[in-house]
Amino acid sequence: MEIVKDKFHTGIDIGSGYTTVIIGRVGSEGELKIVGVGRTVTKGMNRGLVDDVGELKETVRLALEHAEEYTGRGNLTGAYVGVTGQGISSKNVINLALHKGQTEIINSSRIRELVESCYPENDPLTDVLHVIPVGFNLDGYNRTRNPLGLHAKTVEIESHVVSMNSIDLRNALKSVTSNKVSVNGAVFQGLAAAESVITGDEREIGSVLIDIGESTTDIVVFKEGSPWYSTVVPVGGNMITRDISAALGVPFRAGEEIKIKYGHCMPSMVNSNEEIVVPGFQGDDKKTVLKRDIAMPIQSRMVEWLRLVTQAISASGLRAIPSGGLVITGGGSKLNGLTELINDNLEIPVRLAYPTGIKGLPTQLQKPEYSSAVGLLLWAVKHQGEKQSYPQENIWSQIKKIVGKKERAMVG
Ligand SMILES: Nc1ncnc2c1ncn2[C@@H]1O[C@H](COP(=O)(O)OP(=O)(O)OP(=O)(O)O)[C@@H](O)[C@H]1O
Ligand SMILES: [Mg+2]
Repeated sequence: MEIVKDKFHTGIDIGSGYTTVIIGRVGSEGELKIVGVGRTVTKGMNRGLVDDVGELKETVRLALEHAEEYTGRGNLTGAYVGVTGQGISSKNVINLALHKGQTEIINSSRIRELVESCYPENDPLTDVLHVIPVGFNLDGYNRTRNPLGLHAKTVEIESHVVSMNSIDLRNALKSVTSNKVSVNGAVFQGLAAAESVITGDEREIGSVLIDIGESTTDIVVFKEGSPWYSTVVPVGGNMITRDISAALGVPFRAGEEIKIKYGHCMPSMVNSNEEIVVPGFQGDDKKTVLKRDIAMPIQSRMVEWLRLVTQAISASGLRAIPSGGLVITGGGSKLNGLTELINDNLEIPVRLAYPTGIKGLPTQLQKPEYSSAVGLLLWAVKHQGEKQSYPQENIWSQIKKIVGKKERAMVG
């Protein structure tokens, strides 16, 4: 089989629990053709932060090795890498173009200038990941998302700007570049997940994407068709596993298995007599526990998690959750009873989402834990042609250029 090098697109999702690499290309009818998937347990990362560079490099190497089984090693022309952690922050920037006193027709270079004007002042501690134009006000009253070709005297732009702590970003990307794969762009994992699961209607009426991972919850609020607020809550599914392991005196891995098989966050939905057998560890006898007794502490934890999530959403300044409600995804969203728990507590629509409606996407990837990785692949396809490789030592200035190019392409 002949390999056409430049046709591959690659997404690398470095999650705290699992690292996923998906390689794909676009078929003749616009469908996705997945040519490789690698998923491996992440080592060297916690809460979205790298705590062991060598282990993380090895994690990415293993995931790449599996994914590259069919493409062959060294045929990737760069990857889009998902990043997260508490170092993520966002703000919306509004800028007014200089009033020229005369009517102009807004062209794409004018739009580019406006987008560039939203770049925050150079801050040595953070790097800008995204500057996404969300709306333009023409002459103070005409709001539009695409002003191209319109006449106006003044143009105001509003952009959603997502930044990340420079050191956290550098550490995460190093695990990719040290495996000799260049980084075409770094993408906030919440935005990547949204790319594969949020519908057009959910963007328009407003909704909140919530990607529940191993140790982070990524949040993106959508309003009027665009991302409007991005943040990260440093809590994920491993908190439940830790509780179960501690309560039952079993290792983390056994706690994980019990959570996935028997965990539930709505005790009222669990048969009150149903028992489960917990294997004995370190000389202990096996024991039986009521499934409902496990569900109760899980419920308390998840109510607490929901409180943190709603607090994070209100920190955006929104007075109410948009009417499209919550769109939950990520491995942690699979916890039994979670949509019911959210419904009970917030009385808003909740949808458990996974990548779907994507032509050519195999069912194996239509699962909540793949939302972010599939979104990265879609991102890579959307931004193809902007791929760049750069010398590692000059990575930061290059990333700024790449990010700039990418976002400019969104409006051009
Ligand atoms: N069926 C299930 N029920 C409950 N929890 C589950 C289920 N399947 C997976 N999980 C949980 O999902 C979490 C992992 O999700 P995911 O793979 O999306 O995380 P990640 O992307 O590696 O981490 P992060 O996004 O925090 O960096 C784990 O805590 C795991 O226990
Ligand atoms: Mg994740």
